Amino acid sequence: MRRELSKSSKVVKVVVVGQGYVGLPLAMRAVDAGHDVVGYEVAEYRVKRLLAAETYVEDVPASELAAALATGRYLPSLDPAACAGFDVAVITVPTPLREGLPDLSYIESAAVTLAAHLRPGATVILESTTYPGTTEELLAPLLEEGSGLAAGADFFLGYSPERIDPGNPTWRLDNTPKVVSGIDAASLAAVEGFYSGIVETTVAVSGPKEAELAKLLENTFRHVNIALVNELAMFAGDLGINVWEAIDAAATKPFGFMRFTPGPGVGGHCLPIDPSYLSWRVRRALGQSFRFVELANDINDHMPDYVVRRLTEALNRRRQAVNGSRVLLLGLAYKANTGDDRESPAVVVAERLLGLGAEVRVADPYVGSDHVHGSVERVEATPEELAAADAVILLTDHDAFDMAMVRTHARYVLDTRRRVSRT
Ligand SMILES: NC(=O)c1ccc[n+]([C@@H]2O[C@H](COP(=O)([O-])OP(=O)(O)OC[C@H]3O[C@@H](n4cnc5c(N)ncnc54)[C@H](O)[C@@H]3O)[C@@H](O)[C@H]2O)c1
Repeated sequence: MRRELSKSSKVVKVVVVGQGYVGLPLAMRAVDAGHDVVGYEVAEYRVKRLLAAETYVEDVPASELAAALATGRYLPSLDPAACAGFDVAVITVPTPLREGLPDLSYIESAAVTLAAHLRPGATVILESTTYPGTTEELLAPLLEEGSGLAAGADFFLGYSPERIDPGNPTWRLDNTPKVVSGIDAASLAAVEGFYSGIVETTVAVSGPKEAELAKLLENTFRHVNIALVNELAMFAGDLGINVWEAIDAAATKPFGFMRFTPGPGVGGHCLPIDPSYLSWRVRRALGQSFRFVELANDINDHMPDYVVRRLTEALNRRRQAVNGSRVLLLGLAYKANTGDDRESPAVVVAERLLGLGAEVRVADPYVGSDHVHGSVERVEATPEELAAADAVILLTDHDAFDMAMVRTHARYVLDTRRRVSRT
């Protein structure tokens, strides 16, 4: 279905660099808005799948991909030459940590590719989450060096953090307000002009650093609050208090409280990684530590160990050891109803249990069977599997899991999401 927006800008050639969780939905939306779109991607297997209309991002159904390809205005490509002649290029490449430090090599290589095709009057926008200063201090010089053009004078440059929430059917790319920025007024106008044809609401800030910081604030806010309830959950557990009930009660306050829930740890890109970009920047620029981020990292990183401790205690009460026990893990993804197992705490739980000698099996209908970790066996959550396990740990609350079946057949359930008891 084509969702033409009232403020739709004129048709241009758009290059989206990186066709992942962020770039692919953006490319689809840009096609939908009427643009000619190149999805430039360095992973050959991804380009092959895209060309065959096979999706690997839950939020983009195969039918949407097929429809985009059928317009003739969407071209997934491995070839940098396909970027030639772009009017707008949006960079959506990964920004991971390497040995605890920001790894901007993907942004650097995207910049080198785009610089070779940069023309006067074109616009380059960075969407990848990164530390404040990246657009102006890293991206601008690389684009200028490779193109011989000057940012601001010859081409427009800005930063617009993306707010994709994989698996969220309510808040999508088009109806989630989008923060936009430019290195000067003309760049802001170009960036805002592009997005006003893509999303319903744009929110302009005065410069890229404010936009970069806004994104890190959003992620750090969640990270810190999740760490708070996780620490509370550990203390409450040891004090014999039902933390879930306390959270539900607190959440009845209609103002000044926001509900966060405990879990086995944090995963994905936004929470375990992005706040560290901010603490790195603060340390590097000011020589100070960002104590909230470091504390939150410490608590959230230890949650998988807490899960293992709780399991060990539960087995111990039944005179059983972890060593030799059969443990069925429900969920490998870090988030419900997605197949994303990047930085997933479930993976750490599996590794810890294997290290203690448990026989570990995992059921996850979303995570591909090629994602096998160590000697973990992939199974389906059948009544037989549930009954055969000495213990079951619910790590990801996928709707696909039949919680009533889990309750009926499992001998013991460690419910890290309060789904088995609640449903
Ligand atoms: N996934 C999310 O929910 C989410 C949410 C908020 C922010 N982000 C941010 O968005 C950015 C992208 O994340 P993602 O989840 O889409 O990552 P992803 O790994 O799903 O996709 C990135 C893609 O870029 C490709 N790529 C890498 N270098 C390239 C290059 N030089 N040229 C072309 N393609 C290249 C990779 O092969 C990959 O397919 C990150 O900075 C992340 O922090 C992601």
